Amino acid sequence: MTEIAIIGFGTVGSGIAEVIDENQAEIRRELPEGIHVKYILDIRDFPGSPYADRVVHDIDVILNDPEISVICETMGGKEPAFTFSKRALEKGISVCTSNKELVDALGGTLAVIAREHNCSYLFEASVGGGIPILRPLRSSFAQEFITSVIGILNGTTNYILTKMETEDLDFEEALRQAQDNGYAERNPEADIEGYDPCRKIAILASLVTGMNVKYQQVPCEGISKIDKKDLQYARAIGRAVKLLGVCRHDRATNQILVRTAPYMVPKGHPLYSVEDVFNAIMVHGNMVGDLMFYGSGAGKLPTASAVVSDVVECIQNAGKNIDIGLRNQPAVMGDAMAEKVSFFVRVPAEQADKAKTYFGSEIQPVSIGVESEFAFTTPEITEGDFAARIKEFDGAKSIRLL
Ligand code: HSE
Repeated sequence: MTEIAIIGFGTVGSGIAEVIDENQAEIRRELPEGIHVKYILDIRDFPGSPYADRVVHDIDVILNDPEISVICETMGGKEPAFTFSKRALEKGISVCTSNKELVDALGGTLAVIAREHNCSYLFEASVGGGIPILRPLRSSFAQEFITSVIGILNGTTNYILTKMETEDLDFEEALRQAQDNGYAERNPEADIEGYDPCRKIAILASLVTGMNVKYQQVPCEGISKIDKKDLQYARAIGRAVKLLGVCRHDRATNQILVRTAPYMVPKGHPLYSVEDVFNAIMVHGNMVGDLMFYGSGAGKLPTASAVVSDVVECIQNAGKNIDIGLRNQPAVMGDAMAEKVSFFVRVPAEQADKAKTYFGSEIQPVSIGVESEFAFTTPEITEGDFAARIKEFDGAKSIRLL
């Protein structure tokens, strides 16, 4: 048996133990010796749990045990997860994690430490829950230049938008249902203000470009200001509102544009029909064209399954570093204000003429029978131009068109 440890025995951590126990026979097809969870590190005890006898409270018990070859870090947050992961990697123990906050902040640093110590730092579960996306990005696209990655990367907000659309719920009621179902983060702000998908698109952008994109470099908007009328307007123009992470990489300049924001996605686009808690990620390679990865983006067992897939790969590559292509080098970000995009806009009805003056005769009015406001879509315009014009309107609201 290959011995491993789980540090942080919350939802995902306990899911890892469950996946390993339940699917030991499947794991043995790849690793005939099997995997055994020797230790569980947590500040809590778990009396009555089948894992109670494996719980330790001191990381050194794990780090000083030469039998441990992989640690699953499912603590969340930066510290002590960073220190524990760094110390493990320095001892040649591979670390597999779902901790997107740490991966985004210090993944490049930990990847370099892993390389220096012939072990691996893998984080498949940090993006898209159970969807295999990071492994295909590093193993199936060596021959490709990836020009864009566009994804629905947050299950909670996709669930909220779906409920608002299909059951005509208000934002608050849909959020409550997401929380009752255990989808939302402890602090729902991370989901609804877009910080969670922002971290995920930053991780994807880092892997695609090999440079470190920090989420602080990514313009970020969530869905807390989206209301039912926005969804009705979207429907009127054959679109649906989705919270997207968008990364575009320009081959000529090597510049990257990354953004998290709600977009109106047209019917017929593969992301249009992604509903409920599901995630989907569209990758465009310059040779292969469009590919879509779809599945459970959140939840205990799908996320745990992705961590275990990394554990298996680490064990298969024991004593070697799995190069994830992440260099600890700051990304060259493009000018977000120069990006061209069309917008959907709502302004109070009395500003309709002003809107025509500011945005030109090519705007297309959109009506859902609300007389108090004037709604329209713009032709493509730079982000900078749009920002300069829209700030002249009181009470305006806008959503980008994909
Ligand atoms: N709160 C996250 C989501 C969990 O809803 O997608 C998975 O990262």
